[in-house]
Amino acid sequence: MGWFLPTNGDTATFGGPEIPRTLSNFLDVAQRAERAGFEYILIPVSPTCWDAWTTASFVAAGTKTIKPLVAMKPGFIHPVAHAKMIAAFSQFTGGRLHLNLIAGLSEKDSVSEGQLASKEARYRQLEEEVLLVKKLLSEKAVKFSGEFYHVDEPIILPDIESISCPEFFLGGGSEDALEISAKHSAVHLFWGDFPSRIEQQISEIRQRAAHHNRRDDIEFAMRLQIICRETEAEAWKAADRLISNAEEQKIKKQIRDAKLNSVANSRQQELAALNDNRLTPHLWSGLNNYRAGAGVAVVGNPRQVANQLMEFVDAGCSGFCLSGYPHANEAQIFGEHVMPLLRDYSVPALAEETL
Ligand SMILES: Cc1cc2nc3c(=O)[nH]c(=O)nc-3n(C[C@H](O)[C@H](O)[C@H](O)COP(=O)(O)O)c2cc1C
Repeated sequence: MGWFLPTNGDTATFGGPEIPRTLSNFLDVAQRAERAGFEYILIPVSPTCWDAWTTASFVAAGTKTIKPLVAMKPGFIHPVAHAKMIAAFSQFTGGRLHLNLIAGLSEKDSVSEGQLASKEARYRQLEEEVLLVKKLLSEKAVKFSGEFYHVDEPIILPDIESISCPEFFLGGGSEDALEISAKHSAVHLFWGDFPSRIEQQISEIRQRAAHHNRRDDIEFAMRLQIICRETEAEAWKAADRLISNAEEQKIKKQIRDAKLNSVANSRQQELAALNDNRLTPHLWSGLNNYRAGAGVAVVGNPRQVANQLMEFVDAGCSGFCLSGYPHANEAQIFGEHVMPLLRDYSVPALAEETL
């Protein structure tokens, strides 16, 4: 079970004031997520985010158990630097680290930061980085010559014998994304969709994983927003309030969408236009009109939220990576009111944490 650290900005209402991005706010979110019982915290990487590794370091220092799930974007950090960062971070924190593989949402974003324009090439580069980082963290005196990287016996410190390579998560919806996930991910993350469609995608990725002898080595988790209040009426009121002043944001989002190249994000745009934004009685795609990516929200009272999440467990998911506005408050609400229900329902990810 994971929560999200909003290094790209947080607010109580879209179009309203941003909650200042400060260390104390990031720590507040992470500490409340930890207290709520979340095992990891997703730290994104994009041009509008604060630096993920610096933030992860401070968050790890200011918490006890929660593991940063740091995004890894091709061509952004050299694999030798990455391996050294992972090794040091793992040493300092006792292995509190996962990595989230992402190709980036747009050519414009990638080119602006000196990466490759073509998404297909970025995915090839991402896979090469995974292979090389795994090698650097498991073997000494690595010689490697690939399409993008050449290294000749780099020294990785601290000593790799004392650490293990973190697990890879992956978020993406194209063929390339599914194939890399099938080969390398411990967890494939989905943005919100109909549970029946998630079930189909799980079956497809498992079949791909089976070709790489990994059929049972991959798990699936939903990346969703949460709007949970004591009553259903209050929850829908909170959902309405979130977007009541956001017309300008909607227009900006439409302009940005036209520049994005992401199968996963295109699907989120489609969902924004369906069924008056109600995918199920408690799955709402209204936020997808105002933000890219993870817009689908579970809306309801604690029991309704838990039941909606369980539909995804029944579809084959074993965990969730969640968020809500503002992030510190919603983490606390979720921890107090929904987490106990999920424990009663024996959500697989929660069972593992108690082992
Ligand atoms: C769960 C999840 C998390 C993501 N996190 C990020 C992120 O931190 N930064 C980013 O630029 N894109 C992120 N993305 C978007 C992917 O980079 C995007 O889907 C990518 O362009 C892949 O395109 P594809 O869906 O066509 O494979 C995320 C996607 C998902 C599903």
